[in-house]
Amino acid sequence: MANLLEKEDKRSKYCGLFRDEDIGTRVCVMGWVQRARDLGSLIFIDLRDRTGIVQLAFDDGTDRDVFDTAFTVRAEYVLCAKGTVRLRSSINETIPTGRVEIAVDELKILSEAQTPPFEIVENSPVRPELRLKHRYLDLRRPDLQKNIIDRAKIAHITREYFVENGFIEIETPNLIAPTPEGARDYLVPSRLHHGKFYALPQSPQIYKQLLMLSGFDRYMQIARCFRDEDLRADRQPEFTQIDLEMSFITQDDIIAVVEGYLKRLFKEFKGMDIELPLQRMTYAEAMDRFGSDKPDLRFGFELKNLSDVLKNCQFKVFSGALENGGSVRGININGGAKFSRKEIDGLAEFCKTFKAKGMAWYKIAEDGNVSSSYAKFLTYEENKAICDALEMKNGDLALIIADRNKVVFDTLGALRREIAGRLGLVNPNEYKLLWITEFPLLEYSEEDGRYYAKHHPFTMPMAEDIPLLETEPEKVRSIAYDIVINGTEAGGGSIRIHDRDIQNMMFKALGFTQEEANAKFGFLLEAFRYGTPPHGGLAFGLDRLVALLLGLDDIRDVIAFPKVQNASELMTKCPTATDEQALRDLGIAVTDYEE
Ligand code: AMO
Repeated sequence: MANLLEKEDKRSKYCGLFRDEDIGTRVCVMGWVQRARDLGSLIFIDLRDRTGIVQLAFDDGTDRDVFDTAFTVRAEYVLCAKGTVRLRSSINETIPTGRVEIAVDELKILSEAQTPPFEIVENSPVRPELRLKHRYLDLRRPDLQKNIIDRAKIAHITREYFVENGFIEIETPNLIAPTPEGARDYLVPSRLHHGKFYALPQSPQIYKQLLMLSGFDRYMQIARCFRDEDLRADRQPEFTQIDLEMSFITQDDIIAVVEGYLKRLFKEFKGMDIELPLQRMTYAEAMDRFGSDKPDLRFGFELKNLSDVLKNCQFKVFSGALENGGSVRGININGGAKFSRKEIDGLAEFCKTFKAKGMAWYKIAEDGNVSSSYAKFLTYEENKAICDALEMKNGDLALIIADRNKVVFDTLGALRREIAGRLGLVNPNEYKLLWITEFPLLEYSEEDGRYYAKHHPFTMPMAEDIPLLETEPEKVRSIAYDIVINGTEAGGGSIRIHDRDIQNMMFKALGFTQEEANAKFGFLLEAFRYGTPPHGGLAFGLDRLVALLLGLDDIRDVIAFPKVQNASELMTKCPTATDEQALRDLGIAVTDYEE
């Protein structure tokens, strides 16, 4: 039976905080039963709250009624217990409260509990679906609870740093105009304007720029963002950004503020000193050396371009790729000769996920014996040139991809990560931070036959590349920068266009007519007429940053109520159908229901 708390039931301390110095004091604790052990004339109950566990003891000296109540207690019951702290007879050094226990003289059951669908213990090996369906129980697990509390600490350090550096926290709206660029919007139908929709913000981008026009100079917000895109381990449909914008600054000023933040965060949260300034690498160099604009620098396996040494080769797989404007590149897996033929075939299969037609390989066993998928199709000189370029030695394995550049980069970039993982070369306690700069301004979509902004349409092109905007848009670099931590894009930003003419050129490059640009962004173009300071900013993904700092792979583990792969939430089962009246009020008729 559930009992109410009374005025005198005041908790004196959290469960996990009891120590020797409490011995002899009378205390009151509240929490959940981790486990109740009935040893006949003795009952021990481990009581848990968010700080840890304390042992409640009931024995011969305990009042009969209290003992009988303790006897009925089961796992996850919620209790209020009063008693005196004493030294335990058998000390448990594995938990911080393990030297003491509370000899209970008053016990109140505040709430009974059914047997939970899974045991509430650290790293419980339970199906994720079951855990997410009962997320409130999952969140009782100490490891998950710690993640959520750590997230709050990180958010706190963040606010403190930016406020100390003159940033003003400003909320921007969540019901906004749909944005035609970027990911797909989540739409919200309007009841008062049938047939019209708000969008949930993919980021506060436009509003924070307008705040710069208004003169706030330094803005920050821990902002909720919504993107209707496919989920991955580092992507959720709603997530949180640490969003910044500054006026009268250059890229270096933003980088300096952000580096100061990272230094503080790593120091305060991890006790680690990161060395500033952080390394910077251009996008072109990152692609060339690592096949990725978010390289993990904790391991090597750098890409080598073999196109030059193979330009006259007769092997169709290589020459064909070169003739089609692609390239041939490879990586040397040092010590990879130990991979069996079957493992190498497995890697070739892995490459197909990245649209590679195949994977060529060359292995020099420890004894110098060579085996290869392509060597017999090349001249001695060509084989030697490849080995030289890749600095192959005994025990090494070369993996080579010949294809369109995008496929080559995607595949080799993924291969180096995959193999480093398999070889155990990824040290979870090491942090490699770097900036990637000079991103291309635009990206061409073969599918849609048009350019898209690589970052977003408000990103400033590099001054020396502006003349190319009308002639060779794909060559234009932008003043955009990402902060990459251990191969994850933790944040990204740019200097913004603050000039109407350049903004118009950008819209033109994106294929908008003047009318379309006015219809979609007229308010922004108009705003630019009234005095716009040069400005720029950046946004971190808070979820990703927390996961990185906690050494976790999946951002779901740092979000209290995350969504699953198909963007639904297993606990409330949203999205759900709504009743007919609600739809009529919104002027909406559903024509296509999910089966
Ligand atoms: P961007 O789109 O690069 O930039 O987003 C900034 C950062 O947000 C995180 N992020 C996500 N995290 C979890 N789930 C997602 N679906 C998701 N999408 C993005 C990433 C990313 O680096 N307005 C610009 C920022 C700016 O220019 O100031 C923006 O939103 O860590």
